[in-house]
Amino acid sequence: MFKKIFPWALSLLLLTAVIFTGCSNNQNTSDDKKPPVQQAKLTGQQLVENRCSQCHTLDRLASKPRGDSEWRNQAERMLDKSPDLLTEEEYELVVSYLQEQNSDQ
Ligand code: HEC
Repeated sequence: MFKKIFPWALSLLLLTAVIFTGCSNNQNTSDDKKPPVQQAKLTGQQLVENRCSQCHTLDRLASKPRGDSEWRNQAERMLDKSPDLLTEEEYELVVSYLQEQNSDQ
């Protein structure tokens, strides 16, 4: 009895496993263990709009033209006020965005 059922049970199990992994792979091509924050990385512009407007308006950023190193200093000063504001990677994105904006003016 067992000998007859076993191959069936085994192939059913394998089939289920194949279907299951097949489906979950289709739904999630990227690594789903990553936290959502890392999946949707913000651009420099989004970071500035979200984070730099927490304490003052963004007008403050446009108050006067600044050179590249000045933007770096300003962003660092703001980071001193609120150390959790940006990760190091985000800080770099913000600085390059601010520098780009400035060179357009
Ligand atoms: C924790 C609150 C806070 C956050 C967040 C913050 N700022 Fe500020 N920011 C201030 C305060 C307070 C001032 C005014 C006092 C000063 O200049 O230190 C200021 C002033 C400024 C100024 C004007 C400096 C001047 O010379 O008048 C700039 C430029 C600036 N912030 C840029 C930024 C940028 C870029 C970000 C995002 C990376 C940011 N801030 C996020 C608190 C903040």
